[in-house]
Amino acid sequence: MSENLHQLRCIGCGAQISGAEARPDFRCAVCGELFEVEFPGWTERKGPDRPNPGALKWLWRERRCSAEWLDQSGVWRYRELLPILDNFGNTVSLREGNTPLYRLTRAAKALGIDQLYAKHQGMNPTGSFKDTGMTAALSVARERGFEWVACASTGNTSASMAAYAARAGMRSLVLIPDGKIAWGKLSQAMDYGAVTCQLKTDFDGCLRLLTKIVNEAPIYLLNSVNPYRLEGQKTPAFEIAEAFEWNVPDHLIVPGGNLGNSSALGKGFRELRELGLTARMPRISVIQAEGANPLVRSFADGDNAELLPMEAQTRATAIRIGNPASWRKAARAIRETGGWCLDVTEAEIAIAKAEIGAEGLGCEPASAVTLAGLKKLRAKGAIASGDTVVLVLTGHTLKDADYTIDFHRGTLLSAEEKAGLEPQIEAQRRNALQVEASAEAVLAAMKESLP
Ligand code: F0G
Repeated sequence: MSENLHQLRCIGCGAQISGAEARPDFRCAVCGELFEVEFPGWTERKGPDRPNPGALKWLWRERRCSAEWLDQSGVWRYRELLPILDNFGNTVSLREGNTPLYRLTRAAKALGIDQLYAKHQGMNPTGSFKDTGMTAALSVARERGFEWVACASTGNTSASMAAYAARAGMRSLVLIPDGKIAWGKLSQAMDYGAVTCQLKTDFDGCLRLLTKIVNEAPIYLLNSVNPYRLEGQKTPAFEIAEAFEWNVPDHLIVPGGNLGNSSALGKGFRELRELGLTARMPRISVIQAEGANPLVRSFADGDNAELLPMEAQTRATAIRIGNPASWRKAARAIRETGGWCLDVTEAEIAIAKAEIGAEGLGCEPASAVTLAGLKKLRAKGAIASGDTVVLVLTGHTLKDADYTIDFHRGTLLSAEEKAGLEPQIEAQRRNALQVEASAEAVLAAMKESLP
């Protein structure tokens, strides 16, 4: 029996096609927009394919104790809500998902919020949230018989794709902007055996070129324009809802780059509500870096404004994206939930990252925009002290160690960027000390470090 219950629907003109009919660039043949996966059997109230909320909650909980490899994945544990494969035996998994939901006690205290959590997607097998989407889309590629997969990337997608392709015995092609990705990520693509091309262009240029290439050669595109990526990336919404006993938090705060992740989490929470697993959706807010803020600009231009591509600049290289592919999907998630779209400065990102580090968690710079954005939302009164807030931390702190070291050494930010924030920056800096090799000197250093 086929486990496949999905079709694709264009978010622009509404055209419906089967998965096999999608073009290699995943753009609609009629209007050029992106597709979304939909499950027609779910809309029929008492239809045989509509999932039963009570039974699912029980089944998903049972699977947490299962020894089955598919159940041990935090993505495929919820496979009833991802019927995108003909056969789940084709799944390629690295036991992704099941990431921790940590309480952020110090930040909560500083901001006067009782319930502040971080869903740390950097705790996935390759160190970023991309793994949850990669297991889904790469499994589809394998089932459809592709030998090659490819992506344009600011680093994390390529690291993830290369790992999953290697596990599946497939070949992978990575296009990255030369000199603008963190070493940790580049090293992963090399280690997992991808053909890695560093191009003299930015992320948007890499994606444009790759779109041409996949239209000419039988290569499966694994960027988040591929709607199956978002199916996997919606599952952290299920994990969060489950962790709160199916009462969703009031706010979810997500970094915005190519805007696939915020779209996917919106879809996940929307489906939970539509299927009756939860009563409502959290407000979803997207935070961008000030130098890479095309969605913020489009929101400022009003409800029906188009997105104007820009040249992006930020040290949070993961979100250095000026022409985000999934912006319409993300804008929908923000608008339908009553969330916000904000940007934060380089100094605000750096301070927030150090604060998350000081909680014993750490994250990469792009993830820290969430805490920086939360501070702004709190300051403008958008978040009440009794609200439950979840920040989505997207990448592991070791992805970009250079950034962290530069911050603590005091060489990261320019005087202009620091202006007015010097005391906050200095309060977070913990540079390594050059100390004489004697007990007295080390004890003196400890004493000096006391506040
Ligand atoms: N955080 C991290 C750590 C990322 O790597 C990315 C995107 C984002 C946030 C933004 O997510 O694009 O779904 O809005 N990284 C992509 C990549 C673009 O190629 O690794 P988004």
